[in-house]
Amino acid sequence: MNLMQTSINESMIADVVTQTVDELTPRNLFHFSAPRQTLVGEGAILKIGTLLQDLNVVHVLIVADKVVYQKGLLSSALRSLARAGIETNVFSGIEREPGTDVVQQGVTQLKQCNADFVLGFGGGSALDAAKVIAMLGSCNCTIEEFVSPGFSGRRTIGLGAVPTTAGTGSEVTDISVILGPDREKKFLNKHADLMPDLAVVDPGLMLNLPPSVTAATGIDALTHAIEAFTARNANPISKALAIAAIQKLVHALPIVVGDGEDREARLDMATAAYEAGLAFGNAGLGLVHAISHQVGARYKIAHGVANGILLPFVMVFNGLVCRSEYAAIAQVFGVARDAMTERQRCDAGVTAVRQLLADIGLPNSLVAAGARPEHFNELAEAALQDICIVDNPRNVTKADIIAILQQASGT
Ligand SMILES: NC(=O)c1ccc[n+]([C@@H]2O[C@H](COP(=O)([O-])OP(=O)(O)OC[C@H]3O[C@@H](n4cnc5c(N)ncnc54)[C@H](O)[C@@H]3O)[C@@H](O)[C@H]2O)c1
Ligand SMILES: [Fe+2]
Repeated sequence: MNLMQTSINESMIADVVTQTVDELTPRNLFHFSAPRQTLVGEGAILKIGTLLQDLNVVHVLIVADKVVYQKGLLSSALRSLARAGIETNVFSGIEREPGTDVVQQGVTQLKQCNADFVLGFGGGSALDAAKVIAMLGSCNCTIEEFVSPGFSGRRTIGLGAVPTTAGTGSEVTDISVILGPDREKKFLNKHADLMPDLAVVDPGLMLNLPPSVTAATGIDALTHAIEAFTARNANPISKALAIAAIQKLVHALPIVVGDGEDREARLDMATAAYEAGLAFGNAGLGLVHAISHQVGARYKIAHGVANGILLPFVMVFNGLVCRSEYAAIAQVFGVARDAMTERQRCDAGVTAVRQLLADIGLPNSLVAAGARPEHFNELAEAALQDICIVDNPRNVTKADIIAILQQASGT
């Protein structure tokens, strides 16, 4: 026998064994991202000047929701920035569900004023527009390039988020949602640089939110928490945040719909939306969002309203693989009883969600909200391509989605 050959073979085997062990060792890893800095609490907005001063910001462009601007909700922030000696411009053209045109106007204003920081101020619509404006302004690229696969630009302009709704959690996600040029399809982008550097969450800015918007945005937060809790990509931190969010929402959502000026409940709502945002930003979402992105864009149904209509039907569908999670949700809603089986608790969790939706007066039919059954085949095909579907806990077919669309329409 050739001794040389034997020793080479042994070393080769040793290499293979070491490599296999190395590849097997890092198991169950998960990555967790969040804004570098967050300030939460009533009056937090009064600190915006000093917060940006600490980040060496010289000139800020505030990308604001039109209604929020008209209501004067920017005034304390503007005073705080002026006191800190930070030059400020305001772009207040953001309306519900911003499209590529309004984002382009914001980019033009950003280039004109040469700001080194973009501060989104409003609901998810304003925050998402601000994220994309900061990205496009940094990379000098078009929106078509930004939404194309393989986009490699980086954000160099600072980014902050001040939510005025307790819903999307956009202040803590690396996601933006913008309507395409035809305004019939949503571009959903995920990019590490879409994560704001700073989130300032002040529930005092949400006291005047009308009951219908409070209800719809609150249900968006609940859907984030429930979908993140059951997502395929969930991890122990995202699960803990999701359940903490559900706990607050169950208690606070009916209160803020009934009494928008309840400050404690508004703080719970703002905190819950933040927690749910962190949970889904890291764990992913599921079938409710995959379908709701399609029906929302096509029929101009508010994001939270579309989610609310779909949520109980998707929960029933996913119940097959989420028994223990839905049983845990029933526990949080206070509807689980000792004598119940896990299956009964799971069903009780779904019923409790349905009851909450009815209590806060959200619609329960897609057709009543404007959807057309003859589009369901096309909508199902688009939902299958939506990025959110990959984290849904149960495998989904086109026929399953059509059945859910029909159930959610009462047809
Ligand atoms: N980036 C993400 O992670 C993420 C997640 C979920 C949803 N979204 C997107 O966010 C958008 C929806 O955001 P939204 O639900 O917050 O709604 P929104 O930003 O469209 O605001 C809803 C309405 O509330 C008004 N409003 C906002 N704050 C107010 C206040 N304090 N007082 C009075 N009126 C106020 C706005 O003018 C608007 O008419 C959608 O485009 C959705 O696709 C993004
Ligand atoms: Fe959402």
